[in-house]
Amino acid sequence: MKKVLITGAKGFFASRFIEFYKRQYNIIALAHNDLDITDKKRTIEVIKGINPDYLVHAAAISDTGLCERNPELSLNVNVKGSINIAKACYETRTKMIFLSSDQVYNGNKDSGPYDEISIPISNNVYGKHKLEAEKNILELLDDAVILRLTWLYGLPERNKKVSSNILWNIIKTCMKNEAIKLPANEYRGITYVNDLISNFQNFFKLPGGVYNAGSENNLSTYEIGEIVFRELGLEHRVKDLLIRDIENYKEHKRDLRISNGNLREHNIYFDETKRSIAKCIKEYSFQVL
Ligand SMILES: NC(=O)c1ccc[n+]([C@@H]2O[C@H](COP(=O)([O-])OP(=O)(O)OC[C@H]3O[C@@H](n4cnc5c(N)ncnc54)[C@H](OP(=O)(O)O)[C@@H]3O)[C@@H](O)[C@H]2O)c1
Repeated sequence: MKKVLITGAKGFFASRFIEFYKRQYNIIALAHNDLDITDKKRTIEVIKGINPDYLVHAAAISDTGLCERNPELSLNVNVKGSINIAKACYETRTKMIFLSSDQVYNGNKDSGPYDEISIPISNNVYGKHKLEAEKNILELLDDAVILRLTWLYGLPERNKKVSSNILWNIIKTCMKNEAIKLPANEYRGITYVNDLISNFQNFFKLPGGVYNAGSENNLSTYEIGEIVFRELGLEHRVKDLLIRDIENYKEHKRDLRISNGNLREHNIYFDETKRSIAKCIKEYSFQVL
């Protein structure tokens, strides 16, 4: 059985990854309290001791607002911590998979969808630091796989973190009978976390490089909201509970869409957004009958 080490083990993504692959791989799960990745010496020591075949680096400061407020923390964890991991992987000859973000494109002025040839320009701390980490990792490890992920969504599970995501945010506001405002001038990918996870066995076989990874769509965030309401069986509540926000990004549309050209070349595919939203809601039996 191949040995897979995963960092950020208690996070939204990693906790679900571990559950999904626990019988297929020998998983060594390291949470923040097991290993602080900003401690270079210990990070290298621990990873050398484990000597994994693959390392999925999911630990991060993933809250973009927190990165903006505390850029030093973001630099230490998202850049320097990731470099520490890459240095350890260099010593153990471990294949590293790094979870980057579509936020590396959020300062691009041309319209998406962006492919991996597009030059990413980021205008926030989180995106800039992800980009800096990507560059440093690839300088050290030419077989590292960099996945530029879109906004992940999924539903709560027992004893697992659920991050803010469009599907769960809509369900929560419906439960409170409150309205949710979604921007009509924002275009971005969203990916069902389990679709991403189930593709990992293919990601492990990829040659080193940068890959956009997630469901593609040409929908505005408001239109995605309409789909969610419909799939939940709450179409009749759209007029009361879903507000079309036309103010945000009205001067310049926010366009973070990606295209997965590189993954397709390796026969790795994601369902398109509408289909994966329907699948997620069905898998968790969340339709209102
Ligand atoms: N969720 C998304 O929509 C999304 C989209 C694109 C990319 N990504 C990327 O995908 C990865 C996983 O995301 P996620 O949503 O699972 O994030 P998450 O839920 O915030 O998990 C990140 C984990 O990293 C841990 N961590 C923070 N600082 C650490 C440190 N110094 N040493 C060791 N561990 C540390 C956190 O532990 P504590 O909480 O205990 O500090 C947390 O459990 C991240 O790299 C994120 O940037 C996520």
